[in-house]
This record gives sequence, structure tokens and C-alpha cells, in this order.
Amino acid sequence: MSRDALAGLRVLVSAGPTFEDIDPVRFIGNRSSGKMGFAIAAAAARRGAGTVLVAGPVTLDTPAGVDRRDVRSAAQMHAAVLGALPADVYIGAAAVADFTPAEVAEGKIKKQPGSGGLTLELVRTADILADVASHALRPRLVLGFAAETADLEANAQDKLRRKRVDMIAGNCVGVAGSGFEADDNTLHVFDATGSHVLGPGPKTGLAEALLDLVAARLQ
Ligand code: C5P
Repeated sequence: MSRDALAGLRVLVSAGPTFEDIDPVRFIGNRSSGKMGFAIAAAAARRGAGTVLVAGPVTLDTPAGVDRRDVRSAAQMHAAVLGALPADVYIGAAAVADFTPAEVAEGKIKKQPGSGGLTLELVRTADILADVASHALRPRLVLGFAAETADLEANAQDKLRRKRVDMIAGNCVGVAGSGFEADDNTLHVFDATGSHVLGPGPKTGLAEALLDLVAARLQ
């Protein structure tokens, strides 16, 4: 397979967590280092794709040749990803918050003497992957990730249909040495025709293997 099938294409990747502010000092976040998405963006750029990386708050260096756009919240990531269209390929590797506080307190929320806990009202965030997949400027190939602790295949198949995406890369996050924050991972990639297991191995190698599958789909 040609390694440069992505050369000259525009590849849009989202990576990392999102942070949803509660007040000026607290937030709700997802456990995500961004390593998988950054490895994918680095590999896409090495193959000659014009690569845009929308990154949540992470402590990773920008891969060579990648146009990086930093965001914090799910709403900001949504705007940055949709604003980066058109693209030939979208790979949604970010761990986007599904819920965000209904209101952000202007000042730090203080403990009230004598009172017990704090009740937060959360509202749903927009689903970036689903919105890209149903967009008028829909990329030719839309790939989403699924971090599951159980029923990986059933959940991935459900996501393929529900979000109208072309490929889902699922990883079991309950397994030691795999999933978020780890350097290694195993990916179970599903599309309408079947599934592939990539790994276990370093996320850098998995990124290459995943892009081989993407490139094959684009031929
Ligand atoms: O449904 P679930 O959140 O598990 O789907 C995971 C996939 O959807 C990932 O690719 C993730 O980046 C994407 N997603 C998104 N916007 C959300 C929630 C998830 O793009 N608000």
C-alpha cells in the first residue's frame, strides 16, 4: 500500500480532554493525555497531509508540520473543529466532555458553614463527531474513537450507526497498560465491512497502522 495516499489531503484531528469550568478555580475534565491524537497528527503530517490538530489542554509538544489550535472547553473544540472544515479526513480522538455546568460561577464557590454538599446542574455538550459527520462540508472519511470499559464491539457498532461515521477505533480503557494516559494501546477498528485489531503496541505505531487503514479506505 502506498504510504503517501494521504499526501496533499487535508486531515483534521482532535485530541486531548476538554475542561468544563465550574468557577475560576475548578473544572470537570476527562482523563486523556492526548497522546493517541498527537501521534495520529504527527503521522499524518509525516505522510504529507496538511494536518490541523485541535488540541484540548495537554502537555505535549506540537508535532512537526502540524497546524495546532488550542482549545479548553467542549464548546471551544466544537467551534474550532467545525471552523477548520473543509477537510478530507476527520479523526476525532479527543475525550470530549459529555456534560458541562449549566452556569460558570463568576467567583470561587465557597463552602457554606453548616451546609453539606454542592449540587451542580450539568447540561449536554454538542456532539462534535456527529456534527462533523452530518455537516454540509462532511469529510470523505470520518473516524471516531470509543473508549469503553465493556461491550466494546456492540458499543462501537452502535456508534457507527448512530453518529453516521465511517470508522470507529475502540479501546478498552479498563485494561492495564492500555487506553488513556498509557504509552501503549490496543485498537479494535470497526467499519461497515468488519473489524481489525491493531496492537498491542506503542501509540506511535498504532497511529501509523490506523492511517494505513484510513489510506486504504480513501483509495
Ligand atoms: O459517544 P462517545 O462519547 O463515547 O463517542 C466517542 C467519540 O465521539 C470520540 O471520537 C469523541 O471524540 C467523540 N465525541 C465528540 N463530541 C462529544 C462527545 C464525543 O466528538 N461531545
